[in-house]
Amino acid sequence: MNTPNTAAASPLLSVRDLTMTFPGRGGRGARVRAVDGVSFDIAEGETLGLVGESGCGKSTTGRMIVRLLEPTSGSVTYDGREIGRLPQRALKPLRRELQMVFQDPHSSLNPRRTVARIIADPLLIQGSSAAAARERAAELMELVGLIPEHLDRYPHEFSGGQAQRIGIARALATGPRLVVADEPVSALDVSVQAQIVNLMERLRAELGLAYLFIAHDLSVVRRVCDRVAVMYLGRIVEIGPKDRVYGAPAHPYTRALLSAVPLPDPAAERARERITLLGDPPSPAAPPPGCTFHPRCPKAREICRKEPPLLRITAAGEAREVACHFPEVPDSG
Ligand SMILES: Nc1ncnc2c1ncn2[C@@H]1O[C@H](COP(=O)(O)OP(=O)(O)OP(=O)(O)O)[C@@H](O)[C@H]1O
Ligand code: SF4
Ligand SMILES: [Mg+2]
Repeated sequence: MNTPNTAAASPLLSVRDLTMTFPGRGGRGARVRAVDGVSFDIAEGETLGLVGESGCGKSTTGRMIVRLLEPTSGSVTYDGREIGRLPQRALKPLRRELQMVFQDPHSSLNPRRTVARIIADPLLIQGSSAAAARERAAELMELVGLIPEHLDRYPHEFSGGQAQRIGIARALATGPRLVVADEPVSALDVSVQAQIVNLMERLRAELGLAYLFIAHDLSVVRRVCDRVAVMYLGRIVEIGPKDRVYGAPAHPYTRALLSAVPLPDPAAERARERITLLGDPPSPAAPPPGCTFHPRCPKAREICRKEPPLLRITAAGEAREVACHFPEVPDSG
């Protein structure tokens, strides 16, 4: 179960065999194994990208890490301490260190509260005085590129990009070391996305933050991450340093996802191999046997229908792991 894909000797976050099973909708129907044995590490100051199609379990994974959801099984170790099973009461000090940024800034900010209240709230919960919390909120406004004089405005008075800056300021209020950013730019106009990505990169450098950066847009993840994990139907199918995964993808699913990303150079765009995925992902309530990707995989063979492939390195010295019986193995490491 231990993965050699270790970011550092003592990672900031370590997730092992994490699973989440939801009851069938309305108490009936099949249970949904939304996350099915996920393991990875994130080092201090590192960004791990988490990508995959809609419904593969990215948000559920992120929400278990910040304990908005309690894992069904597996462990979440933060700064050397197991937090996956801590009761809510014991989580309060950890809330300072582990924060989340959500996809839709407007719906994640309370419309009836001023920005000052929204940003100061986590500090008040942690015991700050009202005056100190307001002062800190003004500093945070400035840090994320907003005008501190706008503290008494309401969320609807801000654009989508500005509202996401408020969401980021709120997440940073308590001085976290790890931020789980769940599709932080996908609800924004393309022109605004780059500004928010730049802001997040600057904050990471200035504050030494680590990110779990969740997105379905592979180009955005490529810009921000050090390592990337590709999820399919609740499992990680490929994980490793960005250059390896993007430069020489080894899992057929990663290759298919990457072949759908448009290339800037038209000649390269015409020349490259395009892999079309057949159909939609199967329901996690009824995953296919063997390799769960086999019904859509252009390389599937008999063994794939029976034996689930384990996540493992494909060459000695490789820092990348792949869950496939027939990975695309590059010529040299
Ligand atoms: N509270 C819930 N109850 C039942 N099933 C759920 C619940 N939350 C999520 N699921 C199911 O778990 C699976 C994973 O969902 P999740 O939201 O983690 O995916 P995702 O990768 O974040 O997708 P997206 O890219 O659309 O945000 C989906 O099949 C989803 O329908
Ligand atoms: S194990 Fe088989 S079906 Fe699964 S990705 Fe690899 S080749 Fe395709
Ligand atoms: Mg999601």
